[in-house]
Amino acid sequence: MSAQPAEPAPAITLRSERPQDGAAVDALIARAFGPGRYAKSSERVREFATFAPELSVCAWSGERLLGCARMWRVRVGGRAVTFLGPFAVELGERNAGFGARLIARACEAAAAAGESHVVLVGDEAYFGRVGFAAAPGRAVVMPGPVDQRRVLVRALTADAGELAGMVAPL
Ligand SMILES: CC(C)(COP(=O)(O)OP(=O)(O)OC[C@H]1O[C@@H](n2cnc3c(N)ncnc32)[C@H](O)[C@@H]1OP(=O)(O)O)[C@@H](O)C(=O)NCCC(=O)NCCS
Repeated sequence: MSAQPAEPAPAITLRSERPQDGAAVDALIARAFGPGRYAKSSERVREFATFAPELSVCAWSGERLLGCARMWRVRVGGRAVTFLGPFAVELGERNAGFGARLIARACEAAAAAGESHVVLVGDEAYFGRVGFAAAPGRAVVMPGPVDQRRVLVRALTADAGELAGMVAPL
């Protein structure tokens, strides 16, 4: 049996978020999460975190925004780390690997900026595939009620060590 030729990767452009992208990113996030997004525990973090547009990533097909991953600077146990989210891909464009590419690019940008870890709140069933794992025990503490199994961390370097402490302002 002969092997099928590999599918070419879809033509998308990944770029860090520019000021003029903000409205399109906000609209995509609103479509993906609906009004309930403000009740999320991650939203409490974003109220005090420092937005990092240079680490945030947008996926474009021409002028059309297909996905986004926003990044924020916070402190966990005295260490400066990045917090990821919201993260969304436009309905109709999902399951094509764009999400995984956005996460990979955001983590590369954070590593290149000297960050040690990325923290997020999400499903380990998804984020486990892209390098994240549940913070052991209650090591990383969110500033509000959260299912602790959804508090996920990815170390960006081999010697980054474990994170421990409250997610707090920089
Ligand atoms: C999560 C999301 C960004 C993934 O984007 P995507 O471009 O479809 O992601 P990928 O193509 O890299 O991965 C798709 C795979 O992940 C799976 N997947 C998606 N969400 C999942 C979840 N919550 N748990 C487990 N698996 C999930 C899909 O079923 C698919 O599986 P397959 O490869 O076996 O077919 C997209 O589904 C989305 O925007 N969802 C709504 C917003 C959201 O929930 N964001 C995450 C909040 S933390």
